[in-house]
Amino acid sequence: MASVNSLLLSSPAKLNLYLDVLGRRPDGYHELLTFFERISLCDTVRLTEIQTDEIVLSCDSRLVPSDAANLAWQAADLLRRSFGVKKGVKIEIQKQIPVGGGMGGGSSNAATVLLGMNRLFGMRLSRPVLVDLANRLGSDVAFFVSGRRFAIGRGRGGDLTGVSIPPRVRLWHVLFVPPKNIMTKDVYALFDRGSQRSRTGRNPRETLTLTKNNENVNILLSCLKEGDLRFLNRKIYNRLSEIVIESYGFVSELRTDLSKLGFKWLHMSGSGPTLFVVCKDQKYAQRVYDKARARLSDKCHVFIAATL
Ligand code: C5P
Repeated sequence: MASVNSLLLSSPAKLNLYLDVLGRRPDGYHELLTFFERISLCDTVRLTEIQTDEIVLSCDSRLVPSDAANLAWQAADLLRRSFGVKKGVKIEIQKQIPVGGGMGGGSSNAATVLLGMNRLFGMRLSRPVLVDLANRLGSDVAFFVSGRRFAIGRGRGGDLTGVSIPPRVRLWHVLFVPPKNIMTKDVYALFDRGSQRSRTGRNPRETLTLTKNNENVNILLSCLKEGDLRFLNRKIYNRLSEIVIESYGFVSELRTDLSKLGFKWLHMSGSGPTLFVVCKDQKYAQRVYDKARARLSDKCHVFIAATL
């Protein structure tokens, strides 16, 4: 029997512990300063070499396209075109990461395809080459390709700086995901409109200077290293959360419901709508999870995840 060349891979999610939008870029994207954390909520991606010269994709979620519209498909296509790969690949994705939740599931799947095909076909491409390809696909893909647990992202989000955080540092989170998703580009469009209003003085928003931002990220880093969760909670920041809460009633309702349960420090990841809390250990996370599941299971999906 012919052997089948196949790989089964984990494709993790991310949270943004910090996200400020510094302005509009000439390419239409936004200049960001963000702090990524890789977490243990994972999709599964199986890659199999096929004899036909094509990319075949399937996914167990109806919300995910199975054709060239899927970023994972585009990752396979980019890799094949860039390096003249003739072999075909079958990509099978099993989703756990909520689609359109602000946790980078699609970007992660694309990164997993880049890393996996590199192994499957023995291509021996270096990490910087893969990061370069990742940045041609989307803003969060490079972080997942980098293999880092934490990183600072600048530019569109893909100019990464590694941070040295001891392996013993592991945060626990409970994630609250409303059943409706949000398109990232819609949030940035709303943000731009809000910023225009603020320039005419009708909707003032705090603008952090670069110095203040860098200072905040440095403090966040030291809180992480020292395990000071109380102060960490004060420094976790997402510039997009205000506009998302203002514009999407289901997010503000969920936030109110969670506050009523006594969760004081609620944060948002990426462009939302996922809200999350930071917990000091697994036991505490389990208590938060149980409480939310008992009271809000009709309003949101609840997950536990830790730094991966
Ligand atoms: O790069 P990615 O596909 O993840 O981005 C999705 C959308 O989010 C973009 O089409 C763009 O509208 C917006 N975006 C942005 N600036 C960034 C990242 C994303 O405007 N730095």
